[in-house]
Amino acid sequence: MKKDTRWEGVYSFEDSPFLIETLSELREQNTDNIAFRKGLVRLGRYMGYELTKTMDFDELEIETPLETTIGLAGKDRKNILIISVLRVAIPLMEGLIKTLESARVGIVSASRGPAPDFDIKMDYIKVPKLKEEDTLIICDPMIATGSTLISVMKELESCGMPKRIIIVGVIGAPEGIEAIKKEYPNVEIYITQMDRELNKKGYILPGLGDAGDRAFGEP
Ligand code: URA
Repeated sequence: MKKDTRWEGVYSFEDSPFLIETLSELREQNTDNIAFRKGLVRLGRYMGYELTKTMDFDELEIETPLETTIGLAGKDRKNILIISVLRVAIPLMEGLIKTLESARVGIVSASRGPAPDFDIKMDYIKVPKLKEEDTLIICDPMIATGSTLISVMKELESCGMPKRIIIVGVIGAPEGIEAIKKEYPNVEIYITQMDRELNKKGYILPGLGDAGDRAFGEP
């Protein structure tokens, strides 16, 4: 896990060759949608595993068939609530809950309009009750302008926000991270890799194109 020195609480997994290998497969334009979705699930699973390193564990006594020893058990795992921003976060969320098995899951359907305004349209929100002690994980693979995530968080504010809020993405653009950090300085952001910039249409460069289409569109 590598800290991005430009912001507080922003980390990438650029130091994990296995995750970058998977991301490289996603970036490759000839990767078909089956492999693309599988890659997103894999990234979710391993980023979930990396996230557990930032979570609390309790020591406990274990009786093996032979003797007593000391082990660990995740603390407060039932207080994890993962929100999936439709549609491309579905495979990423599927991977995350393979690791964070007892998490509750919420769904937000949000889509971004065209440049230059990138207006956000939110059609559907179904989120279990949020508690202060929850760890809220919002997953959205492409953190481009940041406007979708900011709108989602604004919407969730009316439900009462928990203390720890984490965004999990695959690729981040500095513009989007900056915008999120300006509005929500305490939010933690974990991405596989930070890219260079956005183009005029709001796509991340070098990026991987339209992630939703590549995961669910024509093969
Ligand atoms: N959404 C995508 O799918 N790709 C981008 O590059 C930016 C936003």
